Formats: sequence, C-alpha cells, structure tokens
Amino acid sequence: MNAGVIGIGRYLPEKIITNLDLEKRMDTSDEWIRTRTGIEERRIATDDVDTSDMAFEAATKAIENAGITAEDLDLILVATVTPDQPFPSVSCMIQEKLGAKRAAAMDVSAACAGFMYGMITAKQFIENNAYKHILIVGVEKLSKITNWEDRNTAVLFGDAAGAVVMGPVSEGKGILSFELGSDGSGGGHLYQNENDHIYMNGREVFKFAVRQMGESSESVIEKAGLKKEDVDFLIPHQANIRIMESARQRLDLPIEKMSKTVHKYGNTSAASIPISLVEDIEEGRVKDNDVLVMVGFGGGLTWGAICMRWGR
Ligand code: UT7
Repeated sequence: MNAGVIGIGRYLPEKIITNLDLEKRMDTSDEWIRTRTGIEERRIATDDVDTSDMAFEAATKAIENAGITAEDLDLILVATVTPDQPFPSVSCMIQEKLGAKRAAAMDVSAACAGFMYGMITAKQFIENNAYKHILIVGVEKLSKITNWEDRNTAVLFGDAAGAVVMGPVSEGKGILSFELGSDGSGGGHLYQNENDHIYMNGREVFKFAVRQMGESSESVIEKAGLKKEDVDFLIPHQANIRIMESARQRLDLPIEKMSKTVHKYGNTSAASIPISLVEDIEEGRVKDNDVLVMVGFGGGLTWGAICMRWGR
C-alpha cells in the first residue's frame, strides 16, 4: 500500500505588501530585500481572517480536488505555529467547519518543516491500512506575530495556506522515502519571544538551512534507490532564494526544475511547500510520474524531506 497525494488546494490572502510599501514603513530597501532574500512582495491576511479561516479555504479545495467529501476523511493534520489560539486546535476548528464527522484531528508543531512532518505522519497511517483519507494543511498567519518595527524579520514573512489530501495510490507512485530530524540545541536561533514576536538569528539559521537542505535532499534520493539525475523537480521550503539555490546546485538541477514562489509570497513557513506544489501542478511544471523532492527546515530546529513519484 503506497501513500500519495490525491488532492491539492491553497488559499492566498488578496492583500499584497510590496518591498516598496515596506520601504515607507521601516529602514529598508527593495534592493536589499530582493538581493538578500529574493522576495519582492508577500500576502497579508486582514484582521477578520484568522489561521483557521485560511486553512478551511485551502482544505475545501483539496477535498474537492481529491473527488471525496469531508465525511470521507479519517484524520486531519494541521501544521502551524500561528494557531487561532493554543487550543482548541486549528484542526478541530476546521473538522467542525468542514463537517468531517469521522475524522480525528490534531495540530503539528514543527515550524517551517511542519508540512513535511504532517505528510510523513499521514503516510504511516495510510500504509498501515489504519486510515484511507488524510487531510494535511500547512497554514500560517505570521503577520500576527511579526514585529513590524524589526527590519531583520518583518520583510521576510507572509500569510498563506496550502493543503493536500493523501490516500492510497498505485504501486510505484506516492512517497518513496523520507527523512525527519530535529536539533533542539538550535532552538534559540528562531523562536517566538516574550512579546509574542518572531526572533531570528538569520545568519545561524542560514548556515543550518544550507547544510540541511542539501544533506536531506541527497539522503531521500539515496533512500529511494535513485540518483540525482532521476529527480525531475525540487520543491524547497521558500525562505530565501540563496538557500534554495544552494540546494538546487547540490542536486545539479537546472533552474527550471526548482519551484520558486518566494518572490511573490515571501516565507510562509508551513504553507510554503504546499502552496508552491499547487502552483507547480496548475502551471504544468509537475507532471504525472515525475520524481519530486520536497525539503523543509525551520525553528526547533526541525527538518524534513520527501522523495515521491507524482500521480495516483
Ligand atoms: O523559515 C526558516 C527561517 N528563516 C530563514 O530561513 C532565514 C535564514 N536567514 C536568511 O535568510 C538571512 O540570514 C537574512 C535574509 C535573514 C539576512 O541576510 P544576511 O545576508 O544573513 O544579512 P545579515 O543578517 O548578515 O545582515 C547584513 C546587514 C546588517 O547590517 P550590518 O550589521 O552589516 O551593518 C543588517 O542590519 O543587513 C542589515 N539588515 C537590513 N538592511 C536593510 C538586516 N535586515 C535588513 C533590512 N533592510 N530588512
């Protein structure tokens, strides 16, 4: 029994904040942001839209795209570090709103690697034959924990939600291999501080990210019994174009074989991989039978990677 993706969906807030908008608010420049991060603009949710609202929108689309109903769901996993409140979980909130009467629900806290943790958790239940349909949502409303006075972090983040439905797929397709990891000793490099704002030691996270993205990508390719040249497409966590480029170069992939949405949406933490996946599918960059590598890293520190063959 192989576990794969059978439905996709996403939600992006309409409101766009450009680098030029930020120039007016703080001591920064479009030039600095673009050259250091690759970001040109990001989406920000309005006050009346919370994390669960975005998660619900993305989930509804993924369920419809999978050709199932909410009542077919066995489990809902929501990866987020910006829940509406500590409890009840966002997953329980959307369980009710979706009408997913049979589903168990829990949130996954692994920061920007959360979506990888969610998909890999779902894989276990499906391959053990315990559950058939699992909804995984990566969602963040980072704008509510952003310190808009801190140029070191305020220019980086955005709000979004991405979702997949996972279920059994045909032999040879779905998740071929995975890797998960953590290093709590690096927790002080990226955390929510006593003012409830994001604190980040950018340089330390950068070094960790470059090392981990490359190592984890190579590791899942090897575990899948494949070689670098078998990889059709790389979907890295969209934190910084320079970090993404280092992973792409390590896999010797041409530029058109890497997902890139960071310029439009910034770093959306747990949402970044699924919103990129949706765009790559919709715009035809990822096709049936393609070998994909998805790789993420984040606060914790945490990391996770998946090698999969796309299709049902
Ligand atoms: O999702 C996972 C979490 N996050 C990440 O993956 C982020 C990882 N880190 C990074 O992407 C990069 O470290 C940053 C983009 C955050 C920073 O880039 P950097 O090349 O590492 O810059 P830096 O921190 O070394 O700062 C260089 C200079 C500093 O000035 P001084 O001390 O050299 O005079 C900063 O004060 O740039 C300054 N600076 C800014 N200048 C204009 C920092 N932020 C800004 C800004 N606008 N927004």
